[in-house]
Amino acid sequence: MFKISIASSNEEASETAFEIIRSIVTENPQPVLGLATGSSPVGLYQKMIEAYKKGLSYRSCITFNLDEYVGIDKNHEQSYYTFMHENLFNGIDIPEEQIHIPCGSNGNEDQACREYEEEISRYTVDVQVLGIGSDGHIAFNEPGTPFDSVTHIMPLTEQTRKDNARFFGGNIDLVPKTAITQGLATIMRAKKIILIATGNNKAQAVYDMISGPVTVDCPASILQRHPDVTVILDQEAASKLK
Ligand code: GLP
Repeated sequence: MFKISIASSNEEASETAFEIIRSIVTENPQPVLGLATGSSPVGLYQKMIEAYKKGLSYRSCITFNLDEYVGIDKNHEQSYYTFMHENLFNGIDIPEEQIHIPCGSNGNEDQACREYEEEISRYTVDVQVLGIGSDGHIAFNEPGTPFDSVTHIMPLTEQTRKDNARFFGGNIDLVPKTAITQGLATIMRAKKIILIATGNNKAQAVYDMISGPVTVDCPASILQRHPDVTVILDQEAASKLK
């Protein structure tokens, strides 16, 4: 079930998302946070850092990230490991051993998938933060991914590699061709989901997710079957909704 919130600015969108995270962090003895990369959650992460500076502690949190590129080292400047440390973890107090990010560079991807799924299965994610790809993907579950998928290796679509080329100096050839990602069934186990989407290039995917049929052609449409999804949009991303 979707609760849709339309923000008048990025600032307001980040604040709405942050208030949900704050209540989970303050109300649970061991909060389990599902985190995402991409530009959509960056404002939320800034709010989390600001709150830490004012006294909010994340020391008891456990985190699970959604995905990671395959074939680049975790210390590569565009790895999701680096992204998360630069945009959030270096600014707050979660101990490193409580942070989980899939590993795409140990040379044994099947094992990495199995181990990640096993580890996350030992917890219940209290809240999962999501963005959405312009092709309707969530995490790196591209169109066609089965709804019962767990952590797996995913070839990236041309569209996704084009969208993400901006992080690789605009050069699509530098964007990895595959990723390791939580599956749709993994994501659906989270108790609560917050999906943030802004900008015109997300409007169609947002419409398909909320108002289209539940189909693997739009992986995010599976969220129609989740009991608690807050969708935070700006006017542009909401522009195709009735
Ligand atoms: C990437 C990530 C997704 C993210 C999507 C949208 O492909 N794997 O988790 O939601 O991009 O990114 P952005 O928020 O930058 O538009």
